[in-house]
Amino acid sequence: MKSTVIEHEKKLAAYESVSLVKNGMIVGLGSGSTAEHMIRKLGEEVEKGLSIKGVPSSERTAQLAQEVGIPLILLKEAITLDINIDGADEFDPKFRLIKGGGGALLREKILAHNSKLNVIIADSGKKVSALGKFKLPLEIIPFATQAILAELNKMGLKPVLRKLDGGAYRTDENNNIIDIDIFGVKEVDKLNGTLIEIPGVVETGLFLKTTDIILMGQGSETLFFRNTR
Ligand code: 5RP
Repeated sequence: MKSTVIEHEKKLAAYESVSLVKNGMIVGLGSGSTAEHMIRKLGEEVEKGLSIKGVPSSERTAQLAQEVGIPLILLKEAITLDINIDGADEFDPKFRLIKGGGGALLREKILAHNSKLNVIIADSGKKVSALGKFKLPLEIIPFATQAILAELNKMGLKPVLRKLDGGAYRTDENNNIIDIDIFGVKEVDKLNGTLIEIPGVVETGLFLKTTDIILMGQGSETLFFRNTR
């Protein structure tokens, strides 16, 4: 699909999500290009008088939120968020996600876990019938990188250490990311359990139970999906 259409769909979903944010709320601010549209729009609302506090899921998000005038607090000052709005790399019909394309999955999952309401904003390209076209990111401790790569190789998951500027990519928590191929895996819950048991794996990009609402831009519309669980 053309990138201008995708960009428009991202904006539609992002703008719609801002209408769910009410005065006095503590808002988890996701990471990635769709979340950035939401943060800019939220900044406009703050300028018009909306009173909220944001908890950023990455250093990059924190910087943007500050630029657009959203007051920020630390998670420890809030503990529970009223709403968390974030993007996704993929979502399936069971509201399960792959996240971490932008490398912020660990803090994103912590915010999602500690929020009363989780809203995912996405373009229509993110909707899949089964997770796994997108490579699954794992956040891992650098001390264990080679051992984890070897173990994942044995499991047939084709691990690739994420790189940036010639070196290993470092997350905001100073960890590494390994991207693995889970295409065709049917029992993602079981796989997630296996992956998280490997010493040195801090978190996976599988968000299996947190999502309440998905707002998806499609053409000129925004579709609303609610997880009734
Ligand atoms: C970052 C993420 C993002 O939400 C995900 O990569 C989607 O990004 P975009 O909105 O740019 O498509 O998980 O860690």
